[in-house]
Amino acid sequence: MSLQKEIDRRKTFGIISHPDAGKTTLTEKLLLFGGAIQEAGAVKSNKIKKGATSDFMEIERQRGISVATSVLAFEYGGIKINILDTPGHKDFAEDTFRTLTAVDSVIVVIDVAKGVEEQTEKLVEVCRMRNIPMIVFINKLDREGKDAFELLDEVEQKLKLRVTPLSFPIGMGYDFKGIYNLWEKNINLFSGDSRKNIEETIEIEDISSTDLEELIGQKPADNIREELELIDQVYPKFNREEYLQGGLQPVFFGSALNNFGVRELLDCFVEIAPKPQPKYSDTRLVRPEENEFSGFVFKIHANMDPKHRDRLAFIKIVSGVFQRNTNYVHVRNGKKMKFSSPNAFFAEKKQIVDTSYPGDIVGLHDTGSFKIGDTLTQGEQMHYKGIPSFSPEFFKYINNADPLKSKQLEKGIDQLMDEGVAQLFTLELNGRKVIGTVGALQFEVIQYRLEHEYGASCRYENLNVHKACWVDPQDEKSDEFKDFKRVKSKFLAKDKRGQLVFFADSAFTLQMTQSKYPNIKLHLVSEFESQKE
Ligand code: G4P
Repeated sequence: MSLQKEIDRRKTFGIISHPDAGKTTLTEKLLLFGGAIQEAGAVKSNKIKKGATSDFMEIERQRGISVATSVLAFEYGGIKINILDTPGHKDFAEDTFRTLTAVDSVIVVIDVAKGVEEQTEKLVEVCRMRNIPMIVFINKLDREGKDAFELLDEVEQKLKLRVTPLSFPIGMGYDFKGIYNLWEKNINLFSGDSRKNIEETIEIEDISSTDLEELIGQKPADNIREELELIDQVYPKFNREEYLQGGLQPVFFGSALNNFGVRELLDCFVEIAPKPQPKYSDTRLVRPEENEFSGFVFKIHANMDPKHRDRLAFIKIVSGVFQRNTNYVHVRNGKKMKFSSPNAFFAEKKQIVDTSYPGDIVGLHDTGSFKIGDTLTQGEQMHYKGIPSFSPEFFKYINNADPLKSKQLEKGIDQLMDEGVAQLFTLELNGRKVIGTVGALQFEVIQYRLEHEYGASCRYENLNVHKACWVDPQDEKSDEFKDFKRVKSKFLAKDKRGQLVFFADSAFTLQMTQSKYPNIKLHLVSEFESQKE
């Protein structure tokens, strides 16, 4: 098959949701449709169970599972679908943000009873800012929940989306009768017992036909006719171009657990979702159909087996064909690299592949040369953009607790940071090391992993920092910048890339500092458009 055909038949996406909305269940049902798994329960949830065991043991368990679920690929009607796993737990939000740089579209899952929750808001905001095409799936319709119109309003307002329903529920919870599919113009009746079976649909060409009463009864028929009329008047018509540009989001209703409404979602998804998209590097826009291979690392999994220092770097292929045993250039360090056993993913299994195409994810065995964000090419000197670091929320000094193991500690910290577990800062004034994390959990994880994987031990010491801001002076030689550096010297540090960072101890300090030094921009994200000429 030609490169173009391979590109055209691929769709790479992520499912995002607040924990418990049904992401794992939906993923599993999609795989069932694709015939990639045979029974429910095959996809393990990688969420952190509250209060199950001590937190870091839970994370170790989760790490084991999440290697298997990092990428779940399956075929459906000749289309190759790659689902990238995104952790829902807020302490791993940064992992999810990075994964979103490797998807071409997303499905947002919302619980019908809980409506839009906090984590969904944050993740959707990131997708919205990047104009990633989104489809919304409102889940758990077999339960009593919010009114469908109320939910659509909530999605519009809280998530700032422009929605158009492509399916609509007939009743809800106890009275849930089924779903009218506006996209295909048919009705899918809910029997409450379709968990194992893939449901049948009934075509309804004309919604005013009396067939509808016979199917669902007089009152529900009247209701749905009224609702469909309202939808027609209030919501914009679906338009694929607008969806692809991130300006319109179709909404589906269903119940993942009951395998209901999932086929409608999937059929529409394969028809409308984008194929692998071009991506900007620091030098140019790279198109998938270019002959030369290129890709970037968006995730690293390390040391699953403590006896082998083995890491798996996940590469999203942006252009060309990736081939086994072929020399590629690791652009950041200029090294040529060849991979004898690249892993591809099919359902929950890993297998060695000879060739992969744009949109695919390959897992490359690595002994420590990759960092998140690294670019691989056939020789071209360019770096893919768009994997920023965000200001951590928690900060602590990290000290060596065993002077005989300082080398091990340094190496451990270095590798864990490359993996993206946390961020390391070095204070300008005294060289002390500070770890910044998105969640409090990570400190435990780091300590545990340093000990078990590197034989090093560390101690933490509290440090009062509210946010780390990347400093962007318009003019490095200005008196303003010199003054800033002198006055704030105690609060300045360098990140791992050597960029200057300011530690603000409160929101007030941050605001005061910014107004005192208006020409020095303080950013909460490491990747920013510099103010400099
Ligand atoms: P997550 O990955 O987004 O965190 O959610 P997950 O799929 O694990 O689903 C969270 C809970 O919601 C699970 O129940 C799951 O069975 C349930 N669920 C998912 N879809 C539906 C649905 O359509 N209807 C109903 N009624 N429930 C649904 P749990 O009790 O937490 O876990 P489990 O013991 O069932 O695995």
